[in-house]
Amino acid sequence: MSKILKLTSRRNFLFGLGSLAAISAVAISRSFNNNQDREALDNPERDFTVSQELSLKQLAAQKGLIYGTASTKSYLASDPAYMAAIVENCSMFVPEWEFKWTAGDALLRPGFNQFDFTAADWIANFAATHKLLLRGHTVVWHESLPKWFKETVNRENASQLLQSHIQTVVKRYAGKIHSWDVVNEAIEPKDGRDDGLRITPWLEYLGTSYIDLAFRLTAAADPQTLLVYNDYGLDYDTPEDEAKRVAVLKLLERLQSQGTPIHALGVQAHLYPGKHKFNPDKLRQFFADVASLGLKIIITEMDVADNYLPRDVAVRDRIIAATYEDYLSTVLDETAVIAVLTWGLSDRYSWLSQFQPRSDKAAVRPLPLDIYMRRKLAWNAIARAFDHAPKR
Ligand code: G3I
Repeated sequence: MSKILKLTSRRNFLFGLGSLAAISAVAISRSFNNNQDREALDNPERDFTVSQELSLKQLAAQKGLIYGTASTKSYLASDPAYMAAIVENCSMFVPEWEFKWTAGDALLRPGFNQFDFTAADWIANFAATHKLLLRGHTVVWHESLPKWFKETVNRENASQLLQSHIQTVVKRYAGKIHSWDVVNEAIEPKDGRDDGLRITPWLEYLGTSYIDLAFRLTAAADPQTLLVYNDYGLDYDTPEDEAKRVAVLKLLERLQSQGTPIHALGVQAHLYPGKHKFNPDKLRQFFADVASLGLKIIITEMDVADNYLPRDVAVRDRIIAATYEDYLSTVLDETAVIAVLTWGLSDRYSWLSQFQPRSDKAAVRPLPLDIYMRRKLAWNAIARAFDHAPKR
């Protein structure tokens, strides 16, 4: 291809990209402008001032709450400023990768009969050194399974694998884990089952009893830890989220009716303002229904994606902050909620940058601190929600 042709086609390509970005930016702002929630979402006059110069963990503790965040060894070990910000603001920590079967640069399970605790032990030592309550995430999940899982596991050996995993991993940290996400994201009504269970290898190999088995084995391996069922998509006034809330509640009732040891529901709270309608009354009712089962609730992975918000940083930050405060002020009225964790503390390390980037390529701004560890309005919003929450 001639040089001119190459240049032309390259320019066309770039022009095409540019116009695509422009189109998508217009599309975002048009959909946002047409969004009936525009006024409800963005109020330039909204007050986000904080009344006390305390950290998030101190404000939470004043109400008997716990605030924490997620991160990884690879982020913390290479970023002293981030580690300091976490220690300053958090009294709880959850590893984003290191207690999974495999994720990122952590491979807890190199083989069917193999374990590598290097990264997980680093996390446990980090938490102990800084007196952070530690969450275990997660024992049983259909994602982040090592490559050998698919090739090796079957109906005959899955039970033995699960037992050895729990009796080795959970037992190793027994007494050090505030709460384990024993089973993660096992409900998916779209899979069409009457019980709402997600069709996963665990369900295929062990049947519906895999959930009860995981909870009973974890309880036996660490009698001190809180046993949590963790899931997402429980937050909004949409048919999908309503179906999921109903199915999760039924699962919790079913587990309790069969004597499964379970102490809490983990609500991930990955929020999407501008995409879904928020109905505080429906959310409040769901939390009350869960609490009426005698269960505690942990907000386990909160962040506010800005994919459906305009590019303007001031507008985005206001809407993100309002979303944090509106959601937390709703759920913290339920005193069964014992802890709130954001899925990261700084925009420098959000999974959303990689997994759900904005179509206009602008840097995402989902978390309480910006990439320079400076407090954003989102930080104020969380602080205000803790400050106004009823005491536990
Ligand atoms: O950094 C490595 C890179 O060096 C390597 O080349 C690449 C290919 O394997 O992997 C990169 O690491 C990936 C990492 O995200 C980068 O951010 C891991 O593979 C990938 O597993 C990891 O994804 C994590 C995901 O769970 C799956 O474990 C995300 O960090 C983590 O934020 C996300 O968290 C989940 C919760 O556990 C459950 N709830 C939803 C939440 C968000 O998806």
